[in-house]
Amino acid sequence: MEERPNNIFTIYDEILHRRDKETLLNQRSKSIWMTGLSGSGKTTLAKIVERKLHDMNYLTQLLDGDNVRDGLNKDLNFTGDGRYENIRRIAEVNWLFINCGVITINCFVSPTEDIRSLARKIIGEEDFIECFIDTPLEICESRDVKGLYKKARSGEIKNFTGIDAPFEQPTNPAITIKTANLSVDEAANELLNFVLPLIKID
Ligand code: ADX
Repeated sequence: MEERPNNIFTIYDEILHRRDKETLLNQRSKSIWMTGLSGSGKTTLAKIVERKLHDMNYLTQLLDGDNVRDGLNKDLNFTGDGRYENIRRIAEVNWLFINCGVITINCFVSPTEDIRSLARKIIGEEDFIECFIDTPLEICESRDVKGLYKKARSGEIKNFTGIDAPFEQPTNPAITIKTANLSVDEAANELLNFVLPLIKID
């Protein structure tokens, strides 16, 4: 909250601040933002990393495209505008968690530079940790865990990322995880080891 100008709270001096909550929780809050194709492994990695962080006494909140789109963002589709609004709302939710001292672990395709820079802007440069889950389309498609690639290829689903909707690779992510060369555990540990120094209070 400190970073936002024109604060709407007139009682700002009296309310607890992010640092107070971070101190209580003994952690620095950050948004771990995973971007990558559907089926790239974002949610799989998020679940493992979240459990490991929990075991180390970190308070986290996992936010996932399939879940958020089933509730808060139920009204949104997968057009460019739908995705933009999806990410805008999720970024605002992130901002609330961050200011409560909580570490968020995000799994959203967030396919364009535009969309990710919107999230970066809302969340704040310092707190937005862009993690590119770099799994080639061929692998995501061969896994096809949800059967969506098959439907996209047959035309049953339109605007599917990687098939008939774009995925722009991040140009300068904080970390890139090439899952094709790693076991799930190795990939999760790579992410965890990158994140730990950022959330640790010395
Ligand atoms: S985003 O592009 O707006 O960031 P989000 O991460 O919320 O996407 O949702 C992606 C998930 O929705 C995918 O993992 C997949 O299960 C499902 N999905 C359904 N239709 C599409 C589509 N057209 N493109 C991508 N994902 C889709």
